[in-house]
Amino acid sequence: MFKLLHIDSSIRKRQNNNPQHDSISKRLAYSFVENMKESSSVSQYVYRDVGMNPPPFTDQDWLGAVFTPIDKRSTQQCQKLAISDTLIAEVKEADIIVISTPMYNYGMPAQLKAWFDQIVRVNETFSFDLARGNFPLEPILSGKTLVLITSCGEFGFEVGGVREHMNHLAPHIKTLSKYIGCERIFEIASEYQEFADLRHQSSLEAAFIETRKLAKRLI
Ligand SMILES: Cc1cc2nc3c(=O)[nH]c(=O)nc-3n(C[C@H](O)[C@H](O)[C@H](O)COP(=O)(O)O)c2cc1C
Repeated sequence: MFKLLHIDSSIRKRQNNNPQHDSISKRLAYSFVENMKESSSVSQYVYRDVGMNPPPFTDQDWLGAVFTPIDKRSTQQCQKLAISDTLIAEVKEADIIVISTPMYNYGMPAQLKAWFDQIVRVNETFSFDLARGNFPLEPILSGKTLVLITSCGEFGFEVGGVREHMNHLAPHIKTLSKYIGCERIFEIASEYQEFADLRHQSSLEAAFIETRKLAKRLI
């Protein structure tokens, strides 16, 4: 049995009056999740659309609260961390984390980065110890699976692709995922959206097939 946490981050809705405006990354993530849910292996499902409801940006008061020992935190500081606490609890519970994201300006949406900034938190999801030398950070959580679903307008962002050096989306998220306990990563990508041609159509079709295949593999 799996506990699934599903994070969408496109600023577009999955379904619109004009289907051409539908978010590709959200449609792909929905397909994956629906296929997972068809089996009886999903015991818990938590959904967040951070594209539509972004978590707040962190600030100096947030940081001050994080570095104040729990038993010394003021009511205000506890309130400041309440959203972070909730989002972290969701991550801790999850066995599989599905993150769907568009590529915006060669990286992730600010809304998704805001979510990561709220959850990658010292003494909660990672520990920091200078006794470890040049690599003082270690994840506290473990054993989770990340399913990363991306959509971009251009193409060639894969390893060895013509735009590999411009891809600050998947490499960034993969780096961060270690600090929320993800030890297995599966990636599904749709490309060529801006070209709106056959290459886009076949990339999208292949990505939908992958969502079904991966769901079968994981259940
Ligand atoms: C603000 C913005 C920035 C974008 N930047 C890039 C980019 O840097 N590289 C790229 O390949 N596509 C870029 N795109 C295209 C999107 O990645 C593409 O439309 C994708 O399908 C959006 O995801 P969605 O369909 O889930 O909303 C950008 C789109 C927007 C709206």
